[in-house]
Amino acid sequence: MATASPRLQDALAEVAAEMDDRFDALLTVPDDPRADLYRAMRHVAIGGGKRLRPLLVFATASLFGVDRECAGRAATAIECIHVYSLIHDDLPAMDDDDLRHGKPTAHKAYGEATAILAGDCLHALAFEVLAEPATHADPFVRSELILDLSRASGPSGMAGGQMMDLEAERAQFDLDTVTRLQAMKTGALIAASVEAGAILGKASPDMRTSLRGYAHDLGLAFQIVDDLLDVEGDEALAGKKLRKDGEAGKETFVSLLGIERARAQSRMLVDQAIDHLRGFGDEAELLRDIARFVVARDH
Ligand code: IPE
Ligand code: IPE
Ligand code: MG
Ligand code: MG
Ligand code: MG
Repeated sequence: MATASPRLQDALAEVAAEMDDRFDALLTVPDDPRADLYRAMRHVAIGGGKRLRPLLVFATASLFGVDRECAGRAATAIECIHVYSLIHDDLPAMDDDDLRHGKPTAHKAYGEATAILAGDCLHALAFEVLAEPATHADPFVRSELILDLSRASGPSGMAGGQMMDLEAERAQFDLDTVTRLQAMKTGALIAASVEAGAILGKASPDMRTSLRGYAHDLGLAFQIVDDLLDVEGDEALAGKKLRKDGEAGKETFVSLLGIERARAQSRMLVDQAIDHLRGFGDEAELLRDIARFVVARDH
């Protein structure tokens, strides 16, 4: 990944390997009629994706010296929700996509019914993983993780944002509405990733406020870049079909602002995200690198 610093490249590679191992252990294929359900989950959960959300959990948790196993479990839960959201996002009833992570989408490989159920299972598994005692010895910490991730996933978060995104193909949304849509559909899970690290680390209220500011701006910048890459990106690098938003007549930052202003907006948001971390020292360099990567990435 040419746009990532050596420190970030190492961290991304380490997290990618760890997440593959965790999903491999979580999703052992049973020798019974549910085998294809597990194969469909593994198909999207293993061996693909940038693992940005898990990395955010680890990078934030490391500010507070959180145990790696606890952070790894929270990261797995959030990635379960993310992978489920991708499986459902690609369904014929939603974006109707055939390619994800350079492979056939879950419904192309295993059929629509199995793909729907695979998404349902990953959704449930996320909360099962968080609720298990191994995630944290303190049940209040576990319930705070569950509360935050449930809010980030539901009607006020990712799924609500996906609904607004479908409407964006028909409605004429203004910039405020598109900002709210993006903050929900993409920003909420990115924010939950940083928040999970802060919850596990029992961060002070001041630190939480700074980290929330960082995550909010990062999440918006990330989706603006996803929309820019939809227009300008390389399909082979992205591993998914591009030029879809314009074809669908979808209102995005790019459709409203044009390419140049959308790019300027994403850069401004990343500078702002980094500025929120001014109270932290060198220990937050990985979070700063992640922010720089989010706007410089080519896929
Ligand atoms: C894609 O997210 C869907 C959005 C929320 C924009 P990512 O670009 O993080 O997906 P992967 O996991 O790296 O494929
Ligand atoms: C999807 O946004 C966001 C999710 C919650 C999955 P997109 O539809 O733009 O994501 P891609 O471009 O298919 O990855
Ligand atoms: Mg979509
Ligand atoms: Mg899509
Ligand atoms: Mg997109």
